[in-house]
Amino acid sequence: MKRELIVSAIRNGTVIDHIAPGRALDVVRILGLESFGDSVALAVNVPSGKIGKKDVVKIESRALSESEVNEIALVAPSATLSIIKEYEVVEKRKLELPDVIHGVLSCINPNCISRKEGEARFLVEKRKPVILRCYYCERLLLEEDIARRGKI
Ligand code: CTP
Ligand code: ZN
Repeated sequence: MKRELIVSAIRNGTVIDHIAPGRALDVVRILGLESFGDSVALAVNVPSGKIGKKDVVKIESRALSESEVNEIALVAPSATLSIIKEYEVVEKRKLELPDVIHGVLSCINPNCISRKEGEARFLVEKRKPVILRCYYCERLLLEEDIARRGKI
């Protein structure tokens, strides 16, 4: 028998599952879910597999753009994204970090050329944990910097 869901199934919308424990709030912030009208369900530290834990975010009646999906991959690189239509999973994909990231984050080095002109660009140096390197000044961005970037 399938275990009971901690948050109920949704009718239409998007489910982001297998988020690393504690990262659901970063996903909420990236998508601005606290200030839009969508219904959102969060499950944090749900048991997953034999010993693991995970976070889950469910958004009713909302599809994500490709750039939103790429942003989520930054804070939840191992998450799965499911599209739900009339209670059925009609599409499921694993999120992946692209090799190069642009347009999403800005460099944390205040003197970086990308902050004065043009757009920031990062190379993915490492995937687990995520480490990005600024293409222009080579400054490293660690996971904490990425998760906090809204406040930088
Ligand atoms: N889900 C939902 N509402 C639905 C159908 C599915 O919220 N009407 C959620 C499930 O709770 C799960 C995700 O969408 O978080 C994917 O659904 P499904 O593939 O049925 O779950 P699992 O088989 O557990 O997927 P996985 O193997 O990826 O853990
Ligand atoms: Zn830089």
